[in-house]
Amino acid sequence: MENLLELLKTRRTYRRFEQRPVERCILEEILEAARLSSSAANRQPLSYVVIQGRDEVERIFPHTRWAGALPPQKGQPKEGEHPVLFIAVVENTDINPDCDTDAGLAIGNMTLAAWNHGVGSCIIGACDRARISELLGLTESQKLHTLVAFGYPSVKSKVVPLEKGEDFKYYLDDSGDYVVPKRKTEDVVTYYSQGQ
Ligand SMILES: Cc1cc2nc3c(=O)[nH]c(=O)nc-3n(C[C@H](O)[C@H](O)[C@H](O)COP(=O)(O)O)c2cc1C
Repeated sequence: MENLLELLKTRRTYRRFEQRPVERCILEEILEAARLSSSAANRQPLSYVVIQGRDEVERIFPHTRWAGALPPQKGQPKEGEHPVLFIAVVENTDINPDCDTDAGLAIGNMTLAAWNHGVGSCIIGACDRARISELLGLTESQKLHTLVAFGYPSVKSKVVPLEKGEDFKYYLDDSGDYVVPKRKTEDVVTYYSQGQ
């Protein structure tokens, strides 16, 4: 359990990457983690498109937005820092048109499986879905839910406690590493009791 919590603590969002590929066996583990995720009524409406190789990744990259909380020159990965892999999470609407929770669980599994091998990730909700769907050749019943970017991080990221009234936005420290304030347990958890 301690190891799992350590993994959860350090599995942060990474937005700058080394330019070396994610090994095939790790990619397969990431995809297996997605395949094994829970699914409402076990309908399994999700499928995955793997985008790897410099040319393929670079075709998708311009249609992604990074680090909305930071000015672009700080948050946007520069040339030589781009991810080396994207996995597109696709909802097959003819199986289940409402599978947001399924997607979240699959994404959580994938990012953890990757980080277990030191591969960092960034969930990309802010992207041009229409353009990317076109590039990937998705059909009418295939809806792009999210892209997940992967690669070996070239920066660090750490969680710090978020004090009441403080800004929740993540920021960069003097070394250019990410700092991510998280609300404290006592600020987000209450215990229900009958007397309430
Ligand atoms: C649904 C969702 C969508 C996200 N979309 C983006 C995105 O488009 N671009 C980006 O740089 N980060 C994106 N992120 C990453 C969040 O900014 C990040 O999770 C948050 O700052 C907290 O950092 P942490 O993941 O290290 O806890 C997204 C995260 C989630 C859960």
